[in-house]
Amino acid sequence: MPMTSSGNDSVRALEWSEAGLRLLDQRKLPGRIEYETLTTSAGVADAIAAMRVRGAPAIGIAAAYGVALAARERYAEDSEQWKQRIEADLRRLAAARPTAVNLFWALERMRAEMSRLDGDPFLPLLAAAKRLHDEDIAANRTLGELGAALLNDAAGVLTHCNTGSLATGGYGTALGVIRSAHKRGARRIFATETRPWLQGARLTVWELAQDRIPATLIADAAAAYLMRRGRVQWVIVGADRIAANGDTANKIGTYSLAVLARHHGVRFMVAAPTSTIDWQTRRGDDIEIESRAQSELLNDYFLRDDSVIDAWNPVFDVTPAELIDAIVTEKGVVLKPDAMRLRQLWGSGGV
Ligand code: MRU
Repeated sequence: MPMTSSGNDSVRALEWSEAGLRLLDQRKLPGRIEYETLTTSAGVADAIAAMRVRGAPAIGIAAAYGVALAARERYAEDSEQWKQRIEADLRRLAAARPTAVNLFWALERMRAEMSRLDGDPFLPLLAAAKRLHDEDIAANRTLGELGAALLNDAAGVLTHCNTGSLATGGYGTALGVIRSAHKRGARRIFATETRPWLQGARLTVWELAQDRIPATLIADAAAAYLMRRGRVQWVIVGADRIAANGDTANKIGTYSLAVLARHHGVRFMVAAPTSTIDWQTRRGDDIEIESRAQSELLNDYFLRDDSVIDAWNPVFDVTPAELIDAIVTEKGVVLKPDAMRLRQLWGSGGV
């Protein structure tokens, strides 16, 4: 596999190559390992919408490269008017998926870079996208260590969805904590299947297997019994958007795990870079939750053609801050998060 990093982090979801943005097609994993190279901003928007690239930070990074590609296209068309012309590309990228705030955060960062530019924008914007990409990996490595330090002698951890190198620039958020913890000593790692898209069953266990990190896959419905049996001491998840009061939108089923964890005395950690915090959104109820196609649920096992049956397919939910024991970011750890405690991250610089 050519797109590799080092140590126990050998997978890369996306990488810039001379030919364009190289993506590992996540819809085809684990059966097929296929890459595509995107050379247009419309192609990047389509890859995000179709979830060939997915996971909040990875979506943001892909969009940043998408802005560089758009600038190349629009500047070639019209070197005077490219800043006006690129607006439609920015709108298309922003419309690709609604919940992960990293997408909008990355577009804002790229817009700020654009505003400073005169002349051909491609190379400066490409450099800005690469910086954003590198910063994400560095943030994940830092928050991974901070999160791992909280686990103490936990014998088992449970994670949900895919939050690893496939979902980020590299290393991962919740899976970054798990990677760092694994380096410190063996722990049993449990991963949920994460229905209906199966990010856990198709992606997380595949990614861990690439790095020879042992893990146990469970059906989503087995989580309560796993906790009841005392097999896990922490649930560790990522985030698509953290509201200013700590309420956290993440993959559907995260809220259920938080309720179960509280009932069973299991602690609950959200691991995310500060680019996932949406300071403009006061509480979780204000976060837009994406609904995807009914066909993701009404698949071949079920009554596809029965006109009296439909499906409800929200793909994220919101976990209230009071069910979260720790939000772990690269700027520090917020225990028992609320608006005031989260706000203190501002003071730690650079948020
Ligand atoms: O629909 P997806 O696969 O993009 O959802 C991904 C998640 O919900 C992840 O948990 C979240 O983006 C954090 S990834 C570091």
